[in-house]
Amino acid sequence: MLVAEEVRDFLPHVEVPADVEIVWLPASQPVPEGDHAGLLPLLSRRIDAELLDRLPDLKVVANYAVGYDNVDLDAVRARKVLVSNTPDVLTEATADLTWALILAACRRFPEAMEVARHGRWGWQPTLLLGMEMRGRCLGLLGAGRIGQAVGRRALPFGLEVVYWDRQPQPEFEAEIGARRIESLTDILAVSDIVSIHVQLSEETAGLIGRDELAGMKDGAVLVNTARGGIIDEEALCEALESGKLLGAGLDVYEGEPNIRECLKQLPNAVLLPHIGSATDVTRRKMFELAWANLMNGVRGEPLITPV
Ligand code: DGY
Repeated sequence: MLVAEEVRDFLPHVEVPADVEIVWLPASQPVPEGDHAGLLPLLSRRIDAELLDRLPDLKVVANYAVGYDNVDLDAVRARKVLVSNTPDVLTEATADLTWALILAACRRFPEAMEVARHGRWGWQPTLLLGMEMRGRCLGLLGAGRIGQAVGRRALPFGLEVVYWDRQPQPEFEAEIGARRIESLTDILAVSDIVSIHVQLSEETAGLIGRDELAGMKDGAVLVNTARGGIIDEEALCEALESGKLLGAGLDVYEGEPNIRECLKQLPNAVLLPHIGSATDVTRRKMFELAWANLMNGVRGEPLITPV
């Protein structure tokens, strides 16, 4: 079994059968050739034909993430290798962090922290005015588990919730009064805050580009806790710099772990290092689920959360 070295601390939380041998693999190291039946990688490891060719006996890839854009699904299917992810267990933590970004961007935290730490200031009625939540509109791009959990948290803040999703979500609509909008252009035009919760795929890469940003409301806020490649980051920098957008809250980036210089320079960009699911409980539960999938996969039993 090849298991990402970075999850080693969670091992005491699972049972390791006596016949299972673990080879710990740091994310920085290439996958060694071998007869491993299972692989538990981080999302930073690309699972492609070249990697799979080194592991001819591989039965299962138990991805330590809900997203699986790092996995070449055609390549794994061609070799009959199973793939699992870690849905559900990280929904609430990720929704919490999304809200931290919404609030931080709407209330201009980076600028405010800079003033508090280094500025000469006195209380002023017009210092760092941000966006009032109540009465505004939150637009969710994607209303799966995480999108819906973000939507639910909008109610106490007094926001109207609209969503864009291929699948209508009648229960979600009934629960919080959310309204589905069928066109991307239309949801961007009516939302004061846009939060991204779609998977990264060929269809969604570059979904929010220059035209989409131009079609957003003036002074709107864009938040992304899904995957970096969904936004054209150069275009986003321009929209933030020109003041078209009030701010952006980002947890994910196109070239992780590198963050584009223009984003780092912008005072209205709240930047976090991909920590959406990073709580003590959630990261442990992700490991427990990934491990259970790994064990089932190598024993030929059905995966718990197959992709
Ligand atoms: C995921 O699981 O896909 C997140 O991006 C990391 O928790």
